[in-house]
Amino acid sequence: MTGTVSSRVRLLRPTAVNSILAEVRKAQAEGHKLVSLMRGEPDFRTPPHIVEAAEQAIRKGRTGYPDNRGELPLRDAVAQKLQRENGLTYNPATEILITTGATFGIYAALMALLEPGDEVLLPEPIYDAYRSPIALAGAVVRTVPCQIVHGRFTLTRHQLEAAITPRTRILLLNTPWNPTGTVFNGPELESIAAFVQQHNLVLLSDEIYEAITFDPHAHISPASLLRDRSILINSFSKTYAMTGWRIGYCAGPADCIQAMFLVLQQSSRGPATFVQDAAVVALNASQQCVADMREEYARRRALVHQSLDGINGCRILNPEGGFFSMADVRSHARPSEEIRRRLMLQHGVVVVHGSAYGPAGEGTLRVSFASGGDTLQRGLECLRQGLAAL
Ligand SMILES: Cc1ncc(COP(=O)(O)O)c(C=O)c1O
Repeated sequence: MTGTVSSRVRLLRPTAVNSILAEVRKAQAEGHKLVSLMRGEPDFRTPPHIVEAAEQAIRKGRTGYPDNRGELPLRDAVAQKLQRENGLTYNPATEILITTGATFGIYAALMALLEPGDEVLLPEPIYDAYRSPIALAGAVVRTVPCQIVHGRFTLTRHQLEAAITPRTRILLLNTPWNPTGTVFNGPELESIAAFVQQHNLVLLSDEIYEAITFDPHAHISPASLLRDRSILINSFSKTYAMTGWRIGYCAGPADCIQAMFLVLQQSSRGPATFVQDAAVVALNASQQCVADMREEYARRRALVHQSLDGINGCRILNPEGGFFSMADVRSHARPSEEIRRRLMLQHGVVVVHGSAYGPAGEGTLRVSFASGGDTLQRGLECLRQGLAAL
């Protein structure tokens, strides 16, 4: 059936992780023993009280079509969470939408807001799965190349001003920021908010790593500075180790949420009803499980730092949030993709090359500590040897 695929779909690209996974399978088939520090998938099991809530809901027959906006008890629970933790007030009837993960929230927002030819500002290096849905909406990415300053990637108003054009409609921000580990602080967010305001933009705020921050850094929702210009996007995937449940939520002004709802109604029609019931329990029950996972991530982060510190030609950036550390290997002046392949084939450890997140990520490697235990221990040993041998 050659020639039957639409030009729209030809713009879509697999994510870096998926491309690397294909290489990993090939190498494994050739006999390589590999340990992966690549994926952004927590190795924790979903906390038992959430699993039990889903089980009970299914047994009670909560298996019919959900309210397409999201079941009202879940929209209520999300509104209460946003009030309690982020100081944000949203009307659950009109300003909240339950989505199939953050992925669908991002997609729905882009489809609902963008005209063909509009531009989206994307700080770089950034999570590479934003690009394809922007293309699908007929819009264009304008990157804002960011640099490492004092050991962290930073985004300044000056850089944003240099990138904006009259066609720019949206700034997409991710804090804590995948892959860099930067958590934007108050003054940074104030200057970004002033920029968004001045240029009449919409802020798409992906806050999926909100719960994973390391002392003294704390998450501030960018939407709290720009309530009426923001679509806040969040998910249960990372906070509650629920990646496979496919559930998330968005909050924003009623007209935007209504437009996103129409997109959702023509496609996913929302997460399963019993999954939504379990999500209510996740939000309303004690958040001790979240605190426990955060503490474990903090221990892993320290282990990554300890293990990779002091290697000649490599500097490890200590993340402020999320579960990725960036290794700065720019001094080797070799493409990060080449280094990534060498680490895989000669030292048996899989990471992601920084250039997968855009040219501004060149010269870095993303090391995931979403998995811990023996995997992390062995992976770091291989990585230490591999980086020292570069
Ligand atoms: C920055 C960012 N946004 C969104 C997602 C996708 O999240 P979800 O599982 O909720 O669709 C990821 C997953 O890795 C991510 O890193």
